Amino acid sequence: MRDPRIKVLVTFGTRPEAIKLAPVVKAFADHPRFEMDVCVTAQHRSMLDQVLDTFHIKPRYDLDLMRPAQTLPDITARIITGVCDVVRDYRPDWVIVQGDTTTALAAGLAAFYEQVSVAHVEAGLRTDEKYSPFPEEINRRLVSCIADLHFAPSLRAKANLLRENCLESQVHVSGNTIVDALLWVVARLGSDAPLKRALDERFSFLDPTRRMILITGHRRESFGRPFENMCHALVDIVERSPDVEILYPVHLNPNVQAPVKAILGGASPALSRRIHMIEPVDYLTFVYLMTRSHFIITDSGGVQEEAPSLGKPVLVTRENTERPEAVEAGTARLIGTDRARIVAEAMRLLNDDAHRRSMSGGRNPYGDGYACARIVERLSEAAGGPRCVLEEFAGLTRELAPI
Ligand code: UD1
Ligand code: UDP
Repeated sequence: MRDPRIKVLVTFGTRPEAIKLAPVVKAFADHPRFEMDVCVTAQHRSMLDQVLDTFHIKPRYDLDLMRPAQTLPDITARIITGVCDVVRDYRPDWVIVQGDTTTALAAGLAAFYEQVSVAHVEAGLRTDEKYSPFPEEINRRLVSCIADLHFAPSLRAKANLLRENCLESQVHVSGNTIVDALLWVVARLGSDAPLKRALDERFSFLDPTRRMILITGHRRESFGRPFENMCHALVDIVERSPDVEILYPVHLNPNVQAPVKAILGGASPALSRRIHMIEPVDYLTFVYLMTRSHFIITDSGGVQEEAPSLGKPVLVTRENTERPEAVEAGTARLIGTDRARIVAEAMRLLNDDAHRRSMSGGRNPYGDGYACARIVERLSEAAGGPRCVLEEFAGLTRELAPI
């Protein structure tokens, strides 16, 4: 007799998808109506493995596809082929994809080719700029064409999907699962004193009398001159502020590594003592570093969504964002990639404490920590399960009861 449970294959390949789907994996694993397994494309390798270790996820399928300096057509083609094989082997009722990476698009397409239903987590983000972010804006629009269920992180994302003629009955506002993941890590850091001590020890090279600015960056549309501008701006900031140090876990993409190492690594010895370039760190460590930072300069989508929960201002080195909620709430500023502008915005945060405090408060507009519960219950309902009363996330401050 066939197992009556709903069979779900959760697919992901890069660091942010893994972080955002880790609590989804856990929610499916804990729910009696589902049989769930994980397929990783390993579009990222070490940066993915860090997340798998942190959340103790053991994929049933690991396609191990990453190649150094991989190209978009190459990785796309290999993911489609690999995930099609996995879907034929596993025969899921649903394939879950997340966000806007090449893995999300190609895994969604593979599921479609095998005529398996697709649920899209973090659906409906848009800049409405074809090439920015590149290729993510088009990736996520295409996934929306394929998906049978859309889990929108916000009311705005839902409105974007309805504007593109997605059926209202298939769009659910869940909040962003990254908040679920972040709250788990924050609780762990708060309760595990030996872990906290080990992290303090590991980062004892940071001077507690200095203000630390945490940096990340990796967007393809910024490769070349914009990225060089950002690196020069970081050196300028350190030069102008003797009590500031920057900590930069450098993304492993060679297009990022090269300018960062050349420009920041080329700073004078006096400045380099306050410029720390390190390997990408595991998620627990990165959250710890965010909590220690004075503020954050980043082009990362995930970091924009996390920082409000930690009360950290964010300067977003992009021309546009599909996550305008924090900008509207005043906790993030969209500053582009102009060298002088980056320096001016950072100096303002360093010198004007009222300004920094005005960017440090508030609630997180991206989620409330119950996104995964909503996703799992809605998918159960879509597969004919009992209707469950779970309010949609509307950016409201009221607490929802966990299920
Ligand atoms: C990818 C996603 C982007 C996402 C970002 C998160 C695409 C096209 N891009 O960009 O949407 O925001 O991940 O970080 O899906 N590398 C390693 N080890 C790793 C990871 C990457 O060496 O663990 C290097 C490899 O040389 C690899 C290169 O980085 O070929 C680029 O990786 P890729 O996934 O193609 O692009 P990202 O810039 O990481
Ligand atoms: N992050 C991490 N280690 C790092 C840098 C970032 O774990 O060294 C986390 C960060 O907290 C966020 C996610 O990685 O959850 C963001 O990933 P990335 O910036 O690579 O991708 P994006 O979110 O822009 O797609």
